[in-house]
Amino acid sequence: GKTSLKKKKKTMTTPSSFSFGSTLVLCVIFASLIALTTSNSLADLCIKCQSPKFCLQVFGLNPHRNPYELTLEAINLTFTNASDTTNKIHTFLDQTNNENLKEIFNYCLNYYESSIDILRDVEDYLLKQGIFDTLSTIGAFVQEVGSSCEDRFQEIADDVYVSTLAENNNNMRNFGSIIIVAGDLLSNSTSTNK
Ligand SMILES: *[C@@H]1O[C@H](CO)[C@@H](O)[C@H](O)[C@H]1NC(C)=O
Ligand SMILES: *[C@@H]1O[C@H](CO)[C@@H](O)[C@H](O)[C@H]1NC(C)=O
Ligand SMILES: *[C@@H]1O[C@H](CO)[C@@H](O)[C@H](O)[C@H]1NC(C)=O
Repeated sequence: GKTSLKKKKKTMTTPSSFSFGSTLVLCVIFASLIALTTSNSLADLCIKCQSPKFCLQVFGLNPHRNPYELTLEAINLTFTNASDTTNKIHTFLDQTNNENLKEIFNYCLNYYESSIDILRDVEDYLLKQGIFDTLSTIGAFVQEVGSSCEDRFQEIADDVYVSTLAENNNNMRNFGSIIIVAGDLLSNSTSTNK
């Protein structure tokens, strides 16, 4: 009870004692060592993205992935996400009779479908061939899909339309940023290995 607590307090400053304070220090050192030895590509990637928070959320916290795996996963996630948005736009198109909105949705649909066509081939035609520098162009296009679609809602004269795709478009801007940085990380990691 009280006496042992007093003892612990007294011995806390002794480095050899297994007090809470020194346990904490040990934990911090141990965690830092793990972080250092498993050269954390995920952290390298996310810290350079437009939104590190978004990046960590979509990848989850498992750091044991190399730059190639992260890039492939980024492409896959973007592909799935863009495909999902395409379905959503089709539904919106079916539900509206407004010609302006139809125009906006078709414009966005075109963009999203183009990105899906590109992303579908990235693994076979670029990644497997070791062509990584094109990823920055692809990432930039993915960002453009989000920005152009979002802007389109404001570009129709005489009317103000609230974007019903704002979240999807924002996802594309973030995914595009991830692809650009992942490609950069991948190029760097392969060029230093050679
Ligand atoms: C990405 O998708 C491709 C094709 O669907 C699949 O072969 C690959 O295992 C996936 N990779 C990851 C990291 O999810
Ligand atoms: C698209 O990405 C966003 C952000 O991570 C996520 O909230 C959403 O569920 C994703 N959609 C699909 C179909 O994966
Ligand atoms: C790749 O290398 C360049 C040049 O050294 C550097 O500026 C850039 O930050 C690196 N990219 C990543 C994602 O580490």
